[in-house]
This record gives sequence, C-alpha cells and structure tokens, in this order.
Amino acid sequence: MTLLIQDKYPEKLFREDGKRLDGRDKDDLRNIKMEVGVIKNADGSAYIEWGNNKIFASVYGPREVHPHHLAKPDKGILRVFYRMTTYSVFDRKRPAPGRREKEISMIIADCLEPVLFLELYPGTSFEIFIEVVDADGGTRCASTTVAALALADAGVPMRSLVTSCAVGKIDGQLVTDLSGIEDKAGEADLPVAMTWFNDELSLLQFDGKVNKDEFNEFLEMAEEALGQVYQIQLDALKRKYQQIRDNVQEEGGDPEE
Ligand code: CDP
Repeated sequence: MTLLIQDKYPEKLFREDGKRLDGRDKDDLRNIKMEVGVIKNADGSAYIEWGNNKIFASVYGPREVHPHHLAKPDKGILRVFYRMTTYSVFDRKRPAPGRREKEISMIIADCLEPVLFLELYPGTSFEIFIEVVDADGGTRCASTTVAALALADAGVPMRSLVTSCAVGKIDGQLVTDLSGIEDKAGEADLPVAMTWFNDELSLLQFDGKVNKDEFNEFLEMAEEALGQVYQIQLDALKRKYQQIRDNVQEEGGDPEE
C-alpha cells in the first residue's frame, strides 16, 4: 500500500521551546473567525474559520416536513445534515454521506435541541445544512458552534446559544482545541458543548485514556475555552445587528423604530 504523506505522523507534538507544532501554548485556541448572514437564500446562515477548518451552516424553518411521515403531531423536528466536501480532507472523500457524517449530524442535533422550543412548532421541521469545505480536526465542535449562530441569524427563538470545543491529550500533556494532526497522533480527544441558558453540557464525547484528575482538569480547561469561543459568537451576532443599525441611520431612519 502506498504510504501517504499524512500517514507519517510526527514523533513529537511539542517543539523544543515547549510550544505545540503550530506555535500554540497548551491552553491556546486556534484563530477563530465567525460571520453571520453569509448566504442570501437561507433563512439564516453563518460561516466559521477555526484554524484551518472552513465551515458554512444554513438554516431553514420552521417549514413543512419532507417526507411527511417524519412530522410529529406534538412538536417540531430538528434535522442536521453535516457534510464534508470531497476536497475538504487530504484523501479525496467519497461524495456520498458516510457513517461518520450521519453520526456527527445526529450528535450536532442532540447538542442543539435543548435550546430550541420545538414544542411550539408541531408538524414542522428546522433543517440545518452544514458544509465543511476545509477540515483540520474538531469539525464537529466548529460545526455545532456555527450552526447555533445560523439558528440565531434565522431568528429562531432559542433559550441560548450553544458553544462547542474539544480538549485532549498529546504527548502526555493536556491541551485545548486539537488540530487535525494532534487529533490523529494524540492520545485522547474530548469534544464538549455547552448550553448557556442552564450552563449544562449537551455533548461530552470521549476517545482515549485519562485518569480521574486529568478528566477534572479537562473539564476546567474546556470551560475556559468555551467561554472564549462564546464571546466570539456573541461578537459575530452583534456585528450583524450593528451593521443593520448603521445602514438604517445612513438612510436617515431611526434604528429604534
Ligand atoms: O472533525 P472531528 O475532530 O470532529 O472528527 P474526527 O472524526 O475525529 O476527525 C478528525 C479529523 O480527521 C477531521 O477534522 C479531518 O481533518 C480528518 N478526517 C479526514 O482526514 N478524512 C475523513 N474522511 C474524515 C476526517
């Protein structure tokens, strides 16, 4: 079998100077940028660049459920379609959604559902389409975070935003926000998501081995990181409404009306 360049993982994930391979300290997030209202034809949308991840989320709903038999008489349903483009990863990804994409779609829906008032929308659906155009570790977290923003952009009533981030273990050390190479060559990965209206975790996955003390430290690190990502989400939403305000003022209108 041909050995692909990416099959050769580095032996060490920390540099001589104690930094990670991409220059980060242990508890540093990658650079994160978010923008809302990026897709004209969706009811709501958002875009995130999280390190080398580039992801769009579009929201439609509440709308009629197709196929009809999926509709529930007592509540609305949330459907999430997480997809990775064929060119989003080093090896060409098969275009058809695989088992991993279906599982991640389900996980993201479970993360977001607690903040929605689905009981107020019987017989309808909310649909979130997530397109990962570039992937580099942590796409489920970045996707959950950007999907929550897209829901807010669509004006869907929400109890709060949802924010997600991973912590993990590489070369025996606990770190925040694993990159793709750290995810593959590291020892543990723990993606979490927070619903802010009740400060509860709506996601806690775990892949790897850690002891009880490390697990508690993981949770503390995750809490810190989630707070930082949440601020970036809020800033992205505020920027959009500030822009609307500025436009109204420029046209001589009263933004309070
Ligand atoms: O992306 P996330 O960490 O949530 O999920 P994962 O299944 O742990 O995948 C880790 C990373 O592996 C992804 O972010 C991609 O960069 C990469 N990957 C890949 O190269 N080829 C795939 N078919 C799936 C994932």
